[in-house]
Amino acid sequence: MQRIVLAALSVFVFAMAAQAADVGPSVVVFPGKGKLGSVSFDHRAHYEQDSECVLCHHTGVNEGKCADCHGPDPAAPHIQDAFHLLCIGCHKHKGATAECEGCHVN
Ligand code: HEC
Ligand code: HEC
Ligand code: HEC
Ligand code: HEC
Repeated sequence: MQRIVLAALSVFVFAMAAQAADVGPSVVVFPGKGKLGSVSFDHRAHYEQDSECVLCHHTGVNEGKCADCHGPDPAAPHIQDAFHLLCIGCHKHKGATAECEGCHVN
């Protein structure tokens, strides 16, 4: 009996840890290059307003970084195009910023 309880408890703790790890960083800073500055992306604010993770993580949340495929995989659009399509697409739709300086802050 005690064993079963312990096993159940460890599964629960493991699930909590997995869940905490899964939400990802609260802010992601893309360094940018050239004249356009870095892009500071408030990940938490975005997933809290739109909790559909697959909206952005279209292949699933555990598939790593966007650049893991957008770049190496010729079937995937160039990373810059992918970000602009996704980010600016929704911003236009929701009336958020579509100005270069709205995202490329520095
Ligand atoms: C508005 C778009 C958007 C939404 C919604 C979103 N994410 Fe993200 N997430 C991103 C971007 C962009 C990154 C940075 C990816 C990169 O560095 O290539 C990221 C990074 C992550 C990472 C880190 C990936 C890595 O390997 O570095 C995890 C984990 C993650 N998100 C989980 C989630 C979960 C869970 C949800 C839903 C609750 C969610 N995200 C919702 C856009 C989003
Ligand atoms: C909604 C946010 C957003 C807007 C608006 C936006 N961008 Fe970006 N842009 C990004 C993100 C995110 C990246 C990926 C940055 C990285 O990988 O470092 C990026 C990448 C780029 C890159 C590739 C070089 C680099 O910094 O990595 C160029 C060039 C660029 N953007 C130009 C523009 C121009 C010009 C405009 C205005 C017409 C614009 N962007 C508007 C989010 C945005
Ligand atoms: C496991 C590989 C993989 C990962 C990880 C991945 N993508 Fe993609 N993505 C693709 C492939 C392949 C395509 C082209 C086929 C398709 O549309 O599904 C694509 C298509 C897209 C498109 C659609 C382009 C269009 O023409 O409509 C956008 C936008 C996009 N990805 C953004 C992202 C963002 C942002 C991330 C990170 C949060 C990401 N992707 C992570 C492989 C990936
Ligand atoms: C599903 C829709 C959606 C997607 C996808 C999305 N955003 Fe946003 N974003 C918003 C909305 C809506 C706001 C405005 C929130 C507010 O004003 O409270 C916003 C605000 C922002 C801001 C703050 C702008 C300001 O002037 O305060 C930045 C920067 C930003 N987003 C960057 C990005 C980047 C980079 C991506 C792509 C990785 C992205 N967003 C993807 C909906 C989206």
